[in-house]
Amino acid sequence: MNAPLPKSPLTDPISRRRTFAIISHPDAGKTTLTEKLLLFGGAIQLAGEVRAKRNAQQTRSDWMSIERERGISVVTSVMTFEYAGCVFNLLDTPGHEDFSEDTYRTLSAVDAAVMVIDAAKGIEARTRKLFEVCRLRDIPIVTFINKLDREARDPFELLDEIEKTLALDAAPVTWPLSRGKTFAGTYRFATKSVRRLDKDDEELKVSGLDDEKLAALLPPFEVEGWREEAALAEEGSKPFDLKAFREGHLTPVFFGSALRNFGVRDLIDAMAAYAPPPRGQEADKRQVEASEPKMTGFVFKIQANMDPNHRDRIAFMRVCSGKLTRGMKAKVVRTGKSLSLNAPQFFFARDRSIADEAYAGDVVGLPNHGVLRIGDTLTEGEDLVFRGVPSFAPEILRRITIGDAMKAKKLKEALRQLAEEGVVQLFTPRDGSGAIVGVVGALQLDVLATRLAAEYGLETKYEQTRFTLCRWASSEDKNKLKSFLDANTTAVADDIDGDPVFMASSAFSLNYDAERNPAIGFSDVKDYQ
Ligand code: G4P
Repeated sequence: MNAPLPKSPLTDPISRRRTFAIISHPDAGKTTLTEKLLLFGGAIQLAGEVRAKRNAQQTRSDWMSIERERGISVVTSVMTFEYAGCVFNLLDTPGHEDFSEDTYRTLSAVDAAVMVIDAAKGIEARTRKLFEVCRLRDIPIVTFINKLDREARDPFELLDEIEKTLALDAAPVTWPLSRGKTFAGTYRFATKSVRRLDKDDEELKVSGLDDEKLAALLPPFEVEGWREEAALAEEGSKPFDLKAFREGHLTPVFFGSALRNFGVRDLIDAMAAYAPPPRGQEADKRQVEASEPKMTGFVFKIQANMDPNHRDRIAFMRVCSGKLTRGMKAKVVRTGKSLSLNAPQFFFARDRSIADEAYAGDVVGLPNHGVLRIGDTLTEGEDLVFRGVPSFAPEILRRITIGDAMKAKKLKEALRQLAEEGVVQLFTPRDGSGAIVGVVGALQLDVLATRLAAEYGLETKYEQTRFTLCRWASSEDKNKLKSFLDANTTAVADDIDGDPVFMASSAFSLNYDAERNPAIGFSDVKDYQ
């Protein structure tokens, strides 16, 4: 268990907050599970609304037609709902790996994650990658093995895969009663109880694995085998341990079917009971505890044109400490300027509403016209900067050009705005040549071009550059850094903050330069400042 939170007037609202994301490989059932979780919270009346909303938004928004064409979810958002006395903030992550930067930033704003695994497929590539990001911050993970109503792999094999590929202890809390067409429900070891597929809301007490009530749910020829298997699972696996879970070393495992709305109740109950309340957040000067009285927060996502009728721009801020009250003034530490938080918003599945107050762990949307950018820290006056909203060296670099030279200035401004939103990274070459944009996935380039056309009326083209990778260059010795940059002007650009980036044509050439310049550091990650 975490150390008890220090007593403060804020402790109660904080201890009720659960801020989490779902990590999974596309198609494992994240959208379906999200819908079912929101149903529990009463945030939506009918399952299907998340999908319906997603589609409705797509038809309203021009640039999101890219998403519609390719059938993927590009937008990250947050959904708040209440259940079992807790306030859940579910942060949605884009399904497509081309938007992985967005996902990484979102994961910097959560305290826990639900890992959804397709029972027929086990741990897939993207799940593993996202898990590694969670591991960097030791985020506790609850596992939901989904689609038990379909042909599924042996549960032991799946647990083994979690342990081996993720180096994470797996503690089955429930055990499936058969699977596929004969999937009948789950048995819960600790309480010796059963939930049936067709009656998820009822927990049936049994005397143990030998109980006849239990046998009656299984196909007769499976009964003996199931008892042996379940006994082995109970004795052979790690028991659930709250401390190990909260430290990110052990994951409780639930089996279910999101589509059939089964197992979701156990999952959300576990999130309410075990997932940690908002944790302290690392800042440059000190750790900020959630229970501190003064409001602090950081922006992990900017979203423009959520409602194209209003052409608005919303910064999503995670509150890290204190209480945010509507109308309060906050300091944007990067600029030193004061910002009135006049219309902070909460987001629900269907709509949004003005947030009169928000606490640590909450995510509020702050409408603004370019005052805020990704990575910004807001405080009540203290100069501190939260860490953990990193920028990764892009894997694709393209020069962006515009046919109409008269519009060059407008393009420059548009690129700056979109870079501040995190759509792309923008590099201004020191040799005076045209701007270079950097992305992690090619789809981001399509989004950029579409948004430049739709929102700024700019028709642009991409050209290859001779560079394939770039690194932030730094050195403790400022003179050495300067002479290195001066000697390599044609391969140096400034990023949006004016920090120097060294571009290379290949990993080989980068290594060559790095070896010849031992005083210079070449980094592929940069923390937003
Ligand atoms: P994603 O967001 O992780 O990409 O997955 P999503 O929820 O969209 O689910 C992917 C597909 O898997 C969907 O089917 C969905 O209905 C199905 N699915 C999700 N959970 C379960 C489950 O527990 N059991 C079964 N049998 N199927 C499940 P689809 O046909 O691709 O989409 P749709 O036509 O249903 O929208």
